[in-house]
Amino acid sequence: MCGIVGFVGEEQAAPVLLDGLARLEYRGYDSAGLAVLDREKGLQMVKSKGRLKVLSDMVDGGKTLSGTLGVGHTRWATHGEPSDTNAHPHLSNSGRIAVVHNGIIENYMEIKEFLQGQGVTFHSDTDTEVVAQLLDYYYQGDIVEATFKVIHRIEGSYALGILCADAPDQLVAARKDGPLVLGYGDGCNFTASDVTALIKYTKTVSYMEDGELAILTREGIQVYNDLNQPVEKERSTVDWDISDAEKGGYEHFMFKEIMEQPEAYRKAAFPRIRGDRVELEDLNLEDDFIRQLDRLYIVACGSSYHVGVVGKYLLERMLRRPVEVLLASEFRYADPIVDEKSLVVVISQSGETLDTMAALREARQLGARTLAIVNVMGSSIAKEADSVLYTWAGPEIAVATTKAYSTQLAVLTLLGLHFARVMDTMSQREIGEILEQMRLIPAKMEEILSHTEEIQYFASQYFNHESIFFIGRNLDYAMGLEGSLKLKEISYIHSEAYAAGELKHGTISLIEPGTLVVALATYAPLFDKAISNVVEVKSRGATVLGVTTESKREEMAKHSDSLIVIPDTHPMLLPSLAVVPLQLFAYYVALQRGCDIDKPRNLAKSVTVE
Ligand code: AGP
Repeated sequence: MCGIVGFVGEEQAAPVLLDGLARLEYRGYDSAGLAVLDREKGLQMVKSKGRLKVLSDMVDGGKTLSGTLGVGHTRWATHGEPSDTNAHPHLSNSGRIAVVHNGIIENYMEIKEFLQGQGVTFHSDTDTEVVAQLLDYYYQGDIVEATFKVIHRIEGSYALGILCADAPDQLVAARKDGPLVLGYGDGCNFTASDVTALIKYTKTVSYMEDGELAILTREGIQVYNDLNQPVEKERSTVDWDISDAEKGGYEHFMFKEIMEQPEAYRKAAFPRIRGDRVELEDLNLEDDFIRQLDRLYIVACGSSYHVGVVGKYLLERMLRRPVEVLLASEFRYADPIVDEKSLVVVISQSGETLDTMAALREARQLGARTLAIVNVMGSSIAKEADSVLYTWAGPEIAVATTKAYSTQLAVLTLLGLHFARVMDTMSQREIGEILEQMRLIPAKMEEILSHTEEIQYFASQYFNHESIFFIGRNLDYAMGLEGSLKLKEISYIHSEAYAAGELKHGTISLIEPGTLVVALATYAPLFDKAISNVVEVKSRGATVLGVTTESKREEMAKHSDSLIVIPDTHPMLLPSLAVVPLQLFAYYVALQRGCDIDKPRNLAKSVTVE
């Protein structure tokens, strides 16, 4: 996905746009561009392959572009390789219309061929350029009218920022399946892909809905729905500060967000724990509906999916009902067996992941009740689900999720405990015990975070490995999935998480002298089984980095070349602690390898395309 910023006001637009784009670079960073409208100079556009800094240097931080109205874009390429030509904005052949776009125009080839048949020439390999040329085709003096025609013609997903040289006082924005926030300033107004880009200037925002079109001027913002009817947008005030979206002295956002986990966990969990009860005020699922559930579905992508895998183990133990965890990209095409008696829980940090959004819509289409566990307030998934539980982790900027993962897990655990009380599948004492231990998790996270140098040392020993296995059983296996993904996505080392008991059925053939195996053995009921798997790989020459609890330290040390120890806690809460050293290990390995930790290659923070 990509980042879009739009501004209209009294001050020069280019520096404001560059500042906003810098806060959106995590959304895509293979090229970037600006289009600024100046009454004398007209429409000026500058764009370039490479990071935002390349663009900023080209325009001397924005000084060489004059004008108080403009749009900016930072790209994650879908159609057309990263290049100067394919970078956004895209200019219509008339030279009077500039467009930036996030999403995919699915019928772009059909429209491109139609326009080429009309003698229109194209200059890029992108789907987006079709929007610029189609605007030109429909334009008869009113850019808003032309935009309405275009958005009713194109299919797929779009968040659009549009400038027209003949309308030097207005910026047009439109969205469908691609986030766009509107920011209300004093004599200036903004649009952006997310709040992070505009919170420095205003905390008063509203969130565009699918099919809406907005006209931004210095005086205000007028929004129309997909029937071209004016709508009054509800405004809200952002409840966090710009400092939350800055590094605050840390070298990387990822490390900052790892260190923020204890506080994030407190914010997500503690307001929902009242004595020995869970209070989910924002949950609107009736007790009768919960009691009739004969199974649960958890649907998500990536790390959010891994939270669901942990959740399966936890909720099946709490509720004694089957919990199906499905990848959103699979669920949506699997003809899922859900109906009005089903509950589908979708998990998403960004609330904009297209696969997860599509799965949510599929579930609703089939009559299921839906519950979203989401971090970004007002995001598309949060708005479309029947019920939403926010994780309140604050902005997560690093592409590799950490605090969002931990807070999702906390909320999902509380949901399970709430259901267990309603379904009467756990005693109040059992529930109270877990809640008591949840209150201690932040302090135990802080204990782990107080000696990161040990993990940094292990990373310095192992960063040159080209293939690393994570093995574990039950909850440890679920944790291995997340540890492996963290390592892969920021260090580019091939890694695989494997159920330890399954290793002997094939994959153990890959173990040879020196192969690094991260052996997770925190779950006490299966500790001895885990040790036998460690012995299996050791006997084939593997190097073992063990992960266990304080109470198993001595035994695990006998079988490990290096050992990470986490504090003991309730078995169901072990993943909340075990994930922290795995995040740190991935971080330090990537640091040793000189990788771009906050913006790993080929990735983006939220994947709003299929
Ligand atoms: C996690 O570190 C990755 N960045 C990625 O797997 C992410 O979890 C996935 O894309 C889902 O994103 P979401 O939680 O915003 O839906």
